[in-house]
Amino acid sequence: MSLVAPRLPWFGPGKFPLYLAPMARRTDVAFRQLCKEQGADVMVTEFVQSEALIRDNAKAWEMVDFTEAQRPMGVQIFGATPASMARAAREVCDRVRPDFLDLNFGCPAHKVIEQNAGSGLLRCPPLLYDLVKSVKDAIPEVPLTAKMRLGWDESSIVAVEVAGRLEQLGVEAIAVHGRTKEQGYAGLADWNWIAQVAAAVRIPVIGNGDIKDGASGLRRRAESGVAGLMVGRAALGNPWIFGEMQAALAGKPVVAGTVGAVVRWNAMIRLAELTLEVHASRLGGRDVRWMLDRLLPLTQGLPGSRRIRDRLRYCLTLEDLRRLRDEHLTELANLP
Ligand SMILES: Cc1cc2nc3c(=O)[nH]c(=O)nc-3n(C[C@H](O)[C@H](O)[C@H](O)COP(=O)(O)O)c2cc1C
Repeated sequence: MSLVAPRLPWFGPGKFPLYLAPMARRTDVAFRQLCKEQGADVMVTEFVQSEALIRDNAKAWEMVDFTEAQRPMGVQIFGATPASMARAAREVCDRVRPDFLDLNFGCPAHKVIEQNAGSGLLRCPPLLYDLVKSVKDAIPEVPLTAKMRLGWDESSIVAVEVAGRLEQLGVEAIAVHGRTKEQGYAGLADWNWIAQVAAAVRIPVIGNGDIKDGASGLRRRAESGVAGLMVGRAALGNPWIFGEMQAALAGKPVVAGTVGAVVRWNAMIRLAELTLEVHASRLGGRDVRWMLDRLLPLTQGLPGSRRIRDRLRYCLTLEDLRRLRDEHLTELANLP
């Protein structure tokens, strides 16, 4: 299928963008910085509730934050009321000027779907289309994209039909996570459906689900005919996956999982520093305990990682983290 995306210049002949998937409470401006440095091409903020933006909730606006270095950058919003979504989209575009605005039709969390938002909208395509029309009218000058799951459950897969209608309504790219709402994160993403969506529309389709390394990314690309790939959970413990995938896509030899202890530790410290910098004004202090869930995945692959994870729980400050790094690296260097 020919690709039509004149306002998304990261797609086109010879281009194959790698997206970092939006992940709530994980892929904030600090974590995104790590992934950008490792070769992620395009990023999207974690989802932000349209009503919270309209209420001028400070936390919601903090989630929309990004740096110029992170462009091309999309802001993802969710909600189920066309007027609120349109107003939030307009305000986001006026205040932070993202490269594109992204709509969430994938979140399976109960508190989201009970409002008919996220993947709840896949049960009710007419409302989903109204919402898209309202947002599209509100931000004509900004490209509009969407991220969706396959459908509500296995017996109601609507991805191909919804994607076709989204294209008609002027959505300019669609990321498809190959699971249903009912699946949550269990089972495997179904790339056959992703391929069917990619074959059904002319706008770029970005494939998402279970990409673990350069080899699986290459395989998925070949199997599905997508215009780009999106990586989520695998990047949390391995932001280097983007460099590995870029090398694989360029046909260079790649050895997976070769990041050493020094590089891992430095990434952890850097993430802690960036995270403190970003959230310092809101949180105050230099306590690193609250960001433990962001640091723990990066310990994967460290020698003796279980013991390091236990010890990380007792780190209160950046200085404690640095001390633990130094002790661990000295221990490793002294191994017989
Ligand atoms: C902790 C977590 C938070 C997530 N938050 C969002 C979100 O805010 N917006 C969204 O569209 N998807 C969200 N997702 C879904 C991911 O973007 C992605 O579609 C999913 O993890 C499948 O990709 P993967 O197998 O590469 O992880 C989230 C996933 C996880 C694990």
